[in-house]
Amino acid sequence: MEFNIALLKGDGIGPEIVESTVRVLEKTAEKFGHKFNFTPYLIGGCAIDATGIPLPQETIDGCLASDSVLLGAVGGPKWDDQPGNNRPEKALLGIRSALGLFTNLRPAQLYPALRSASPLKDEIVGDGFDIMIVRELTGGIYFGDRGYREGKYGQEAYDTEAYSVTEIERIGKVAFETAMKRNKKVCSIDKANVLESSRLWRKTMHELSEQYPEVEYSDMFVDNAAMQLVRDPKQFDVIVTSNMFGDILSDEASQITGSIGMLASASLGAGTRGMYEPIHGSAPDIAGQNKANPIATILSGAMMLRYSFGLSDEADAIENAVNKVLDAGHRTADLMGTANGTPLTCTEMTEKIIEVL
Ligand code: IPM
Ligand code: MG
Repeated sequence: MEFNIALLKGDGIGPEIVESTVRVLEKTAEKFGHKFNFTPYLIGGCAIDATGIPLPQETIDGCLASDSVLLGAVGGPKWDDQPGNNRPEKALLGIRSALGLFTNLRPAQLYPALRSASPLKDEIVGDGFDIMIVRELTGGIYFGDRGYREGKYGQEAYDTEAYSVTEIERIGKVAFETAMKRNKKVCSIDKANVLESSRLWRKTMHELSEQYPEVEYSDMFVDNAAMQLVRDPKQFDVIVTSNMFGDILSDEASQITGSIGMLASASLGAGTRGMYEPIHGSAPDIAGQNKANPIATILSGAMMLRYSFGLSDEADAIENAVNKVLDAGHRTADLMGTANGTPLTCTEMTEKIIEVL
């Protein structure tokens, strides 16, 4: 089969990790007899440098014309002085919205080979955990009404959290369907003891849960959820939550797995086109030094094959190769923990994975 993939390398370590992933995808295509065509487009700080804005129309059009999008990371200190609506991060929100990607899947699982990298004690982690965070991605406070106005104490800035039943239902459905293919548990996370939007969220999720009698449904306040994630992560299977709570909880979940450098994500909409990216950022401190861990992006590439192209054997092959390389003890700097020895570079790690493939 033949697929067109838009590449948004972005800033910092973005170009290195995306190039690594392209190499792995090309090897996979060769092995299974497919053809992937890659076209790069600018996004984030590099787009500001080249065109003055973080998300040029050409990038949006290129992504819309592609079968899927692979993204590295955006942002860095160089663009910190940009006004809010021209920051590199604004491009991420813009592209998610332009492509209608209302679902963000963020799996957080513990790799047995990396057990010692998790900050959690053995008795908490046991034989590991496997959580799927389903984050709403195109609504809520990220996209709500915002601005400046005169308030009680003078000028104030405000952002608004708003959710409609339609938005809650469509993300809820993704969570329940996902749970049906996993351990059939959904925990919806909100702040319904305080927020009106959360009360509608909870009511809507409850109603939806009745259509999925096989799924064990529960809900939890977000502050408690933040605590439960480190107290007993094994209790969770699928978590569904709003844009901002999902942003925060997915960073927390990534830390308990030991390395944010390992975690992939998929952003999906109503069709098959998705955007795939590591959940970590652009790590400007190590950019261009060939030190970055490419695994999160490589695993995002595998998610693309599985979710957008329906190539699950191919996705399995990449995931197995990553596992084998880790089992053999190969580590990039971020995965070294207290281990001795020289870490692999980004290129060396990529080549190990390609060798196994
Ligand atoms: C993420 C990031 C983004 C977000 C930022 C960079 C806009 O933190 O993908 O989790 O908050 O969605
Ligand atoms: Mg985040």
